[in-house]
Amino acid sequence: MQRKPVMSIAHRGASAYAPENTVAAFDEAICRGARAVEFDVQLSADGVPVVIHDETLERTTTGRGRVKDHPLLELMRMDAGSWMHQRFAGTRIPTLDEALLAIGPRAMPVIELKAPVPPVELLGHLKRYDLEEACLVISFRAEWLGAVRRESKAVSLGLLSETWDADLPNRAKKLDAEVLILHTDVLGTGVASAVEPLGLELWCYTANDVGMVAACASLGATGIITDRPDLIRTRR
Ligand code: G3P
Ligand code: CA
Repeated sequence: MQRKPVMSIAHRGASAYAPENTVAAFDEAICRGARAVEFDVQLSADGVPVVIHDETLERTTTGRGRVKDHPLLELMRMDAGSWMHQRFAGTRIPTLDEALLAIGPRAMPVIELKAPVPPVELLGHLKRYDLEEACLVISFRAEWLGAVRRESKAVSLGLLSETWDADLPNRAKKLDAEVLILHTDVLGTGVASAVEPLGLELWCYTANDVGMVAACASLGATGIITDRPDLIRTRR
C-alpha cells in the first residue's frame, strides 16, 4: 500500500539528545537527518508566540507558573536547558520566529498550536520567512485549524488525534487538511486504507525505537514523529 519513503519528523526537536523545544534540539534534529521538526507554540502574556510544550513552566524551565502569565522578556530570562543537563544551561525558550529561523528551510517546520495564536499573526510570521507554503500547522483543536484555513489556502494543515474513529478522516478532509496524525496506540490495521483514499497522508506520534518505527511504517504511516530522528535515514 505504501508508496512514499518514510519521513522522520523530530518531536520537539531531537528531544532525546537536547532539551525539547529549544534551538539546540532543532539543530541536533537537522544534524541527525530530520526532514521535518515539530515544536509546540504557546502565547506569552503580551501575546508573543513562544515555543514550549506545557502550559506551565516548572517541568522544562527555571520559571514558575503559567506561560501566559509572563511577558516575553521575562520568559527570555528563564533557562530552558539545565533541567536536562548542565551543558545546556543558558538555553532559552525560543520565540516562534527563532524556531522558524533555526529550522526553515533546511527542514520543514511542523508547528503545533497549543494555544489559539491569531491566524493573521501566525501567517505573518510564516510569510516573513517565506514558509507559508513550506511548513505544516498541526493541532488537536479542529476549530483552530479551521480558522487558519480560512486565512490561508496555501498553508498545509495536520489534524492530531489520540483516538481513532471511522469518521476522523472525513473531519480532517472537511478542514481541508493534508495530514492526519494519530497516536501510535491507535494506528491499527485498516486505518491507512481508510485514510489514503481521501488523499490524506497518515503520520503517527511518537515512535522512539527502531521496532516501533518499522511497525508504524508497515501499518502505512508515511511520517513518523520521533524523539530520535536518526532512527530514520532516507536519501534526500
Ligand atoms: O506532534 C504530535 C505530538 O507532539 C503531540 O503530542 O504532547 O508531544 O505535543 P505532544
Ligand atoms: Ca507537540
